[in-house]
Amino acid sequence: RPRIFSGMQPTSDSLHLGNYLGALTQWVALQDDHDALYCVVDLHALTVNPDPAVLRERTRRTAAQYLAGGVDPARSILFVQSHVAEHAELAWVLSCQTGFGEAGRMTQFKDKSAKQGAEGTTVGLFTYPVLMAADILLYDTHVVPVGEDQRQHLELSRNLAQRLNARFGAGTAVVPEPYIVKETAKIYDLQEPTAKMSKSAVSPQGIIELLDAPKVIGKRIRSAVTDAGREIRYEPATKPGVSNLLAIHSALSGRSLTDLEESYEGKGYGDLKVEVAEVVLEALRPFQERFAEYVGDPAELDRVLADGADRARAIAGTVLERVYERVGLVRPR
Ligand code: TYM
Repeated sequence: RPRIFSGMQPTSDSLHLGNYLGALTQWVALQDDHDALYCVVDLHALTVNPDPAVLRERTRRTAAQYLAGGVDPARSILFVQSHVAEHAELAWVLSCQTGFGEAGRMTQFKDKSAKQGAEGTTVGLFTYPVLMAADILLYDTHVVPVGEDQRQHLELSRNLAQRLNARFGAGTAVVPEPYIVKETAKIYDLQEPTAKMSKSAVSPQGIIELLDAPKVIGKRIRSAVTDAGREIRYEPATKPGVSNLLAIHSALSGRSLTDLEESYEGKGYGDLKVEVAEVVLEALRPFQERFAEYVGDPAELDRVLADGADRARAIAGTVLERVYERVGLVRPR
């Protein structure tokens, strides 16, 4: 069976609707016919220098949200990145294969470092995509389900895999394929529907956090920015606000965009918002209930994560050993 790897950073108390539709929902759907590893990438979160207690808390909460969303630890491997030391080890090998200019062309790095200035930008932020490539190549991953914003990082992972194979022989690394579902690849901010919904948005008003109170979620959807005109049509270029709401509705209700357009004929933006709020709240109610169960039982959560780390380590150890051999490191015996 094809192998899947994906991860999210524990950089907020709650995942948002973009993480949910762009990633988590796909993860859950794919675990039926793939061998999947789903990782809480706590080492990546260190690039923003979090408070230690906050990072610990968010790492557990993120894992609990994977479970609440339907990641099944009986079928998939759910673990924390820092529990498997091989991630950092392979990252070093890959960083010696990555061009300085190549890493400098990553748009997320350019955006973030521009915000933070040269002194505020760490080397960790620069090598972030190399660690991400290590996450992926460490498990001979075939498929990586992510949102659109990760496409360029995935391209780097593919280039690094191909480079290893060219320099150290075919079969040194598996070249991963991105899995990006067009309709949900980019969920937009409700207040600024041309920008992606993001944890680092300036204002929380345009974000739907999965663990927010239903009242807050309803209010944010009702105050979403819509567009000129009054027709409810899926037309991202000219009607970004309405199109975003339709995409969210369609992804959660399973109804096609054309079906939705037809059913809203003669109705107004207000009707659309009321229904989108209903659909979102209906999906999030069971999510929030399950989340409460998982965070309420930290011993069970730790057991799941320890078991996941054991299973991940078994794969990672074999792959890292193969790479170390191929690049010419003498192995201890
Ligand atoms: P992160 O933590 O920023 O986001 C987690 C996942 O959510 C997706 N996503 C979105 N999808 C649709 N619309 C949005 N508005 C939206 N915002 C976020 C992201 O594309 C991602 O799939 N670098 C990664 C974490 C990572 C990783 C990996 C992913 C580390 N190693 C290996 C895959 C494989 C990141 O920062 O995701």
